[in-house]
Amino acid sequence: MSKQFVVPELGYAFNALEPVIDSRTMELHHDKHHGGYVANLNKALEKAPEFFDWDIHDILRNINQVPESIRTNVRNNGGGHANHALFWQILAPGGAKSPSGKLASEINLTFGSFDSFVEKLSNAAISQFGSGWGWLVVDGSGKLQVYSTPNQDSPLMQGHFPIFGIDVWEHAYYLKYQNRRADYVKAIWQIVNWTQVEKFYADAS
Ligand SMILES: [Fe+2]
Repeated sequence: MSKQFVVPELGYAFNALEPVIDSRTMELHHDKHHGGYVANLNKALEKAPEFFDWDIHDILRNINQVPESIRTNVRNNGGGHANHALFWQILAPGGAKSPSGKLASEINLTFGSFDSFVEKLSNAAISQFGSGWGWLVVDGSGKLQVYSTPNQDSPLMQGHFPIFGIDVWEHAYYLKYQNRRADYVKAIWQIVNWTQVEKFYADAS
């Protein structure tokens, strides 16, 4: 039997990101929501089991190679898997307040300052209509870009490498913030794992 996709370990306790993200939200988000994407991805790929040998990033980069009958399913659930696997890693309790090194200078170069980068990405995330994500990506020419995507669409599908993302599905914040998406987005900057984002940037460059 081919290997199945699995939900990666969180790497910290469910309550580690409190008070920004409450323990119950983290538990449901990781175990039930991410768990659901992985279960549905595995189920969809039963119809094309050769993809169990692929990295999820490679599947999304080559989404048009997935059989049409399961492509939307793999796009949504495979995207959900990849996006959340990234999300757990780019959050951490008590990290640096901003990036350093090459990523810091590239952010300054691209967006003018760290503060204007935060404002631009926050606005993209807050104004995404309905469910989706706000992203910091490295594009195909190695430049930083900020934008949002709907649903679980991954920047990988357009050849971009996501290095940081804000999940703005209601499941990410509703228990604590209810309809106040902007408050959640503002608070999340307190718990960014910039060391990890810098590693993803180095991998992407
Ligand atoms: Fe989510």
